[in-house]
Amino acid sequence: MHVTYSTQSIVSFLTKSSWPAFIAFVVVLTSLLVLRFLGAKDVDPEEPPVVRPRIPFVGHMIGLLRHHNNYFTLLRIYIVQSPELAHAAFRQSKTIDFETIKGYASCKAVAFGQHATDVVNFRPPNGEDSYMSDLHQEMYGSLAQGPNLLETNSRVLNYLARSLNAIQTTPKEYPLFRWLRDEYTLGSAATLYGLPNPLSEDPNLIESVWDFEHDLGVLVLDFFPKITAPKGYAARNVVTPVFEKYYNAGLNKNANTLVQRREVAARQWGLTTKEISQAEISIIMAAGTNTVPNAFYMICHIFSQPDLVIALRQEINKITSRKTRDGIETVALHISMLQSHCPLITACFNETLRLNKTGAAVRTVLEDVMLDNRYLLKKGAFVQIPTGLLQSDLNVWGPDAKQFNPQRFLTQNSLPKDVRKAQNQAYMPFGGGKNLCPGRHLAYTEIVAFVAMLVLGFELSTSDGGKLHVPKGEFQRLGVASISPEKDLDILITRRKEFEDVTWEFDTGTVME
Ligand code: HEM
Repeated sequence: MHVTYSTQSIVSFLTKSSWPAFIAFVVVLTSLLVLRFLGAKDVDPEEPPVVRPRIPFVGHMIGLLRHHNNYFTLLRIYIVQSPELAHAAFRQSKTIDFETIKGYASCKAVAFGQHATDVVNFRPPNGEDSYMSDLHQEMYGSLAQGPNLLETNSRVLNYLARSLNAIQTTPKEYPLFRWLRDEYTLGSAATLYGLPNPLSEDPNLIESVWDFEHDLGVLVLDFFPKITAPKGYAARNVVTPVFEKYYNAGLNKNANTLVQRREVAARQWGLTTKEISQAEISIIMAAGTNTVPNAFYMICHIFSQPDLVIALRQEINKITSRKTRDGIETVALHISMLQSHCPLITACFNETLRLNKTGAAVRTVLEDVMLDNRYLLKKGAFVQIPTGLLQSDLNVWGPDAKQFNPQRFLTQNSLPKDVRKAQNQAYMPFGGGKNLCPGRHLAYTEIVAFVAMLVLGFELSTSDGGKLHVPKGEFQRLGVASISPEKDLDILITRRKEFEDVTWEFDTGTVME
C-alpha cells in the first residue's frame, strides 16, 4: 500500500486545520523522528515486506492525522491482507494481543486516573485472574445465548415496539438516522440500567453519548482533549456524575445481568463508584455505535428496492400471529423463528454488515512470533486487520463485491467449495477469536427484529413519496467501526392499511405452532 502526498496537500491540510491540530502535528512529528531514530532496526528476512511512506519519516503520520481510520500507523505495523492469516492472527491471541491496546484505549477514553488505570493494566504472570479477565468472562457470560440474553432481548425489543407503536396513520417526517439513534440509545439505556436511568430522566444525554462516540478516536490520543475533542470531553464530564447518582441511589438493582456482573467484577478489584460511573458512557456507546449505522443502512437498502420489500413481507408475515385481546388487536412477531424461517432478511443483515462494518481490528505483538508458521512478527509491532477490505475483495466476492446483493448469502451452497470457504473466511463483521463480539446475538435480534416489523407494518418513503436511496457514507474517523451516513435522510413513515389500528409486540418466548 502506498499513499502519496504533495507538499501542497500537506500545507493545505495544516492551514485548514485548527491550531491544536497543528501543535499535535508538530509534537507527534518530533516524537516520531526521535522514535524512528532510536527504534530503526533492520527488517528480518522472515518478516513480511515493508511498506515505506513516500515522504520519508513523516508520510505515515501525515496519513494518520489526515485520514484517521483509513490510515493507522506506528513504528512497525503489519497489515494482514489475507482472510486465512487474519483468522490465524485472531487465533494467536496470546501473543497477537488485543488486551493491551483495549486497556490503554479504554482508560484514555474515559479519563481514568492512576488508580483505575493500574487496575485495568494489572496483568498477573501465568494467566491468573485480573480485573480484565474477570470482566471479559462476565461480559461474555451475560451476552451468551441463554436466559440472560433472552431477558436482555425482551427488554430492548419491548422498548423498540413502543417506538413503532407510537407511529401514526398520518404520514410523519423523521430524520431516519437521528430517529434510530435516539430510539436505540434510550432502548439500550433502559435495557442495561432499567428504569429510571440517567437517560430516561434526561434524554439530552443521548447527544452526550454520541458526542463521546464522535470524539472517541481523539480522546484516546489524550492530547489536550479539552481543546482537541471539546464535545467528547464535555460529554464525559456530564455523564459521569449522573451515573454516580444512579449508583448512589441504589437504582442499579434494576440493571440487567451485564451491568450487574460488570459491577461485581469492578468492586472485587477495588474500583470506586466514581470509576465505575466514568466507564458507563463507553458501555452505552458500545451498545449503539455499530447497531445504529447498520440498522440505518439495512433499512435504506431494503426500502430502495420495492421488489425486495414485497419478498420480505411475504417471509416475515409467516412468523407473525394476530390476536384480539380486550378489544385491542395485536400482531406479534415471533423472535425465536427469525433465524430459522427468515433467510432473506437474515441475508439482508449479513450483506449490510459486509458492506458497512468496515473498521479494522488492531492488535499488538507481545513477543516475537510466527504468524501461521509463515511470517515472523516482531515484539512491540502492531498488526492491523482491515476486515472491511476483506469483506469487499473482488477476488473473493466477485465483480459485484461492492454492491448490495443479499442473494449471495442464499446461494453460497451452490458455489465451488473453495470459493465458499474463501467467502466464509473473509466475512468477519464481528471480529474473531477470543475477542469475537459478545454482543453479536443481541445485535442480530435488535436489528433484524426491528427492521422486520418496520418492513411488514409500515410504508417508508422520501418526503416527496419516492422510494428511499442509499446515502453516501461519511468520512471514517479514527476508531469508527461501522459507517454512518454523511447526511441524514428525511423520510416519511406511515402505517400500512392492514395494520392501521394494531398494537405491535415482539414475542420472545417459545416457537409458534
Ligand atoms: C452490528 C452490531 C455490532 C457489530 C458489527 C460489532 C462488532 C464488534 C467487533 C468487530 C468487535 C471486536 C473488535 C476487535 O476484535 O478488535 C466487537 C467487540 C465488542 N462488542 Fe460488538 N458489535 C456490534 C454490536 C454490539 C452490541 C449490541 C454489544 C452489546 C452491548 C457489543 C459489545 C461488544 C463488546 C463488549 C466488545 C469487546 C469484546 C472484548 O472485550 O474483547 N457489540 N464488536
